[in-house]
Amino acid sequence: MLGRSLLTWVLAAAVTCAQAQQVPPWTEDCRKSTYPPSGPTYRGPVPWYTINLDLPPYKRWHELLAHKAPVLRTLVNSISNLVNAFVPSGKIMQMVDEKLPGLIGSIPGPFGEEMRGIADVTGIPLGHLLHGRNMDFGIFLGWNINNNTWVVTEELKPLTVNLDFQRNNKTVFKATSFAGYVGMLTGFKPGLLSLTLNERFSLNGGYLGILEWMFGKKNAQWVGFITRSVLENSTSYEEAKNILTKTKITAPAYFILGGNQSGEGCVITRERKESLDVYELDPKHGRWYVVQTNYDRWKNTLFLDDRRTPAKKCLNHTTQKNLSFATIYDVLSTKPVLNKLTVFTTLIDVTKDQFESHLRDCPDPCIGW
Ligand SMILES: *[C@@H]1O[C@H](CO)[C@@H](O)[C@H](O)[C@H]1NC(C)=O
Ligand SMILES: *[C@@H]1O[C@H](CO)[C@@H](O)[C@H](O)[C@H]1NC(C)=O
Ligand SMILES: *[C@@H]1O[C@H](CO)[C@@H](O)[C@H](O)[C@H]1NC(C)=O
Ligand SMILES: *[C@@H]1O[C@H](CO)[C@@H](O)[C@H](O)[C@H]1NC(C)=O
Ligand SMILES: *[C@@H]1O[C@H](CO)[C@@H](O)[C@H](O)[C@H]1NC(C)=O
Ligand SMILES: *[C@@H]1O[C@H](CO)[C@@H](O)[C@H](O)[C@H]1NC(C)=O
Repeated sequence: MLGRSLLTWVLAAAVTCAQAQQVPPWTEDCRKSTYPPSGPTYRGPVPWYTINLDLPPYKRWHELLAHKAPVLRTLVNSISNLVNAFVPSGKIMQMVDEKLPGLIGSIPGPFGEEMRGIADVTGIPLGHLLHGRNMDFGIFLGWNINNNTWVVTEELKPLTVNLDFQRNNKTVFKATSFAGYVGMLTGFKPGLLSLTLNERFSLNGGYLGILEWMFGKKNAQWVGFITRSVLENSTSYEEAKNILTKTKITAPAYFILGGNQSGEGCVITRERKESLDVYELDPKHGRWYVVQTNYDRWKNTLFLDDRRTPAKKCLNHTTQKNLSFATIYDVLSTKPVLNKLTVFTTLIDVTKDQFESHLRDCPDPCIGW
């Protein structure tokens, strides 16, 4: 999926997430007093919409998509053009268009119906909606030379929405997502848990999973769907942890899960079939935060892409007692933790029922990936 996520955990189960990436030259001192968001790195607020889970899945997204369909069509066009420029035969998009609609029938739970509903409202064929999941290479395509930005990253900003999923007029969970995508990558259940998914690179990565799905292997779950299921239906941190550790998934991923008790927070490093590592907060022994970017924690980061060290450095500098939305936003505003791939920054406090997302910009000088 698009963008990379950096997730920072703090003891009070406040969880933070920035979509991020980098390279050495554009580092800076830990930022201060950036919160409340303002200035050149702040693009604006993320609008809220309610998704009514009491409606049939087909209808749930209609109101939102009525607002967002034109922007979504622009994005889908850009991606098609970029992919076709990259693989000029047009075969990839053609395969997606041809194979995916047939696949929808086999997608479990509410997802297939929700996607059908979105496709009908936007007039975008079903295949394209799923294509968003391939955008992890989209970043290597499409650089806008007029203002030094990534085409896809910029087009995702107006599609970014806060969602309040309700049953019986009561919030079940809240999430920040992109209009048109029914999986969830960033969300929380008030009072109970927070959950974010980070991309994890691997040689037998996401594409293989998607091909397997296409050719009939149905025992694995798409990573964004399992996250949505946990947000929608899990009733405890332990249950969520168990599901995220054990369910087979289509692509390697990091699940970052927070609970409502001190010490309930972990990063689950997943292969498609199994979990490699569950790394938990351990405040009694000084582990008061966990940082996860896009590399296994026991390995070095790619030398071109070390956001882990600056994030840790700034957290160390902040100290545990000074943690707050404001200081975490400062960390997530420090380049290269903030960079040109950053679409939004989310701050979550599970126990205080606070969840906010802010659209970001990273004006020059700022590293591109
Ligand atoms: C850069 O230009 C693109 C295309 O005109 C536009 O969509 C985007 O908002 C611009 N981004 C910034 C940060 O100026
Ligand atoms: C939700 O609230 C609306 C208006 O406030 C009301 O018309 C509707 O009946 C309520 N639905 C449920 C399931 O309680
Ligand atoms: C959550 O559980 C309900 C009731 O079992 C089910 O209908 C729904 O599809 C589930 N949602 C997801 C996203 O799996
Ligand atoms: C915390 O989560 C547990 C389940 O993991 C739940 O039973 C409990 O009610 C929650 N506590 C609060 C204060 O919401
Ligand atoms: C942060 O602090 C921990 C614990 O003192 C230390 O092990 C680590 O090297 C520090 N990291 C950075 C990047 O400063
Ligand atoms: C932590 O907060 C206190 C009180 O607001 C402030 O005096 C102190 O400078 C802060 N420490 C750091 C390292 O920012």
